[in-house]
Amino acid sequence: QWIFFVTPTYERPTQIADMVRLSQTLSHDPSIYWIVIEDRANCSMRVRWILERSGLHFAHLSVLSPKPQPPPDYTNKTIPPNSISRGVSQRNAALDLITAEKFTGVVYFGDDDNVYDTRLFNELRKTQRVAVFGVAFVGNGKYERCVVDAGGRVVALLSNWAAGRKFSMDMGGFAVHSRVLSLVPEDKVRPLPRFRSSVRKGFLETDFIEQIVDHVGQLEPLMDNCTRFYVWHVQTDVQNMMEKVESDDLYEDISALM
Ligand code: UGA
Repeated sequence: QWIFFVTPTYERPTQIADMVRLSQTLSHDPSIYWIVIEDRANCSMRVRWILERSGLHFAHLSVLSPKPQPPPDYTNKTIPPNSISRGVSQRNAALDLITAEKFTGVVYFGDDDNVYDTRLFNELRKTQRVAVFGVAFVGNGKYERCVVDAGGRVVALLSNWAAGRKFSMDMGGFAVHSRVLSLVPEDKVRPLPRFRSSVRKGFLETDFIEQIVDHVGQLEPLMDNCTRFYVWHVQTDVQNMMEKVESDDLYEDISALM
């Protein structure tokens, strides 16, 4: 069973390091189809080389996001007022590709800067419609995860972040099967599930999942009922790296040397 691993990525000093680490994690599983969408006007050669060296089947796309001015201070623990959700148009481009090509398999939205245990992949393959599992170091806490009752049903989602969400989970904490992305005949009036940048910051994931299921009981818990963590939202320290990288020239050199 294919896993369509959807990764938005953008240029910054740590991009190549993050993408190399991710490619080498994904290369452990030849049935991963890596869909990488660069947040820029055209595809870069440096990302292309990483994709080619991975040995994986891949699609390499580019979509430029609108950028807020001034750029939000994402290092702040609270949600900055001018913040927008990242990776929206990129993930939607991947969803368009999956539906247009009628790709069949599990779709996972794997950001470029997370750490993934390779045990994640076979767990993802159990997804029937929408699967959920824990993510470590996310949501202003040690982790976010689902709570499962004795009958194996999800009864709650634990999170310290953005209260008021119906499905309070991070992008890295769920997967969908491609079957939920295509329309059944009686559904013709409903739009296909897509990420919407118009939703409040922090509500991107819940808004997407709400387009597919109605309540937490319909979510399929993975990773031993959400008790094991195979995804870490580590967030590479871009700010610190910016200070270390003295000039754009040096950054160009690093990219050329990889
Ligand atoms: C959290 C979630 O884990 C993200 O999946 C979600 O997109 C994001 O919040 C949000 O709602 O904005 P966070 O660490 O804040 O994560 O986001 P990043 O990891 O910085 O970005 C998510 C993905 O979008 C990454 O793969 C990143 O490379 C990409 N991105 C980021 C862009 O394509 N363009 C940008 O300008 C910034």
